[in-house]
Amino acid sequence: MAETERVICRIDELVEGSLAVKFTIALSEPARDLPCFAIAFNGVVYAYVNSCPHQGTELDWQAGQVFEETGLYLICATHGALFEPDSGLCVGGPCHGAHLRPLAIKVSGTDVVLSCPASILHTPGNEKRES
Ligand code: FES
Repeated sequence: MAETERVICRIDELVEGSLAVKFTIALSEPARDLPCFAIAFNGVVYAYVNSCPHQGTELDWQAGQVFEETGLYLICATHGALFEPDSGLCVGGPCHGAHLRPLAIKVSGTDVVLSCPASILHTPGNEKRES
């Protein structure tokens, strides 16, 4: 399966439990840019599609602000859903039990590198919910 690797940022741009680094993945059918973000949490880098499982809005209330005030959870600015940073599981709010869509990411030297097989962009499930 085709896989593309791409440097998202430098590791020192990710501050533990703080601002996310935002990026996009170009989709071809239909053509659009998929909003995504990368974070650091407990010494590990994670990346997710920036789309709340509840209604599909981006999580951040200001660019890159995806952590709530304690830095322990990600929060959706629209209706306040809380997500575990390391699993993407929603643990509170209208989409409780749903997951953010994870992306394969790794650290290589000082770079944060996204691995992006086409299949991850078309995995069924976690579609937005109406409520
Ligand atoms: S859109 Fe995220 S909680 Fe409603």
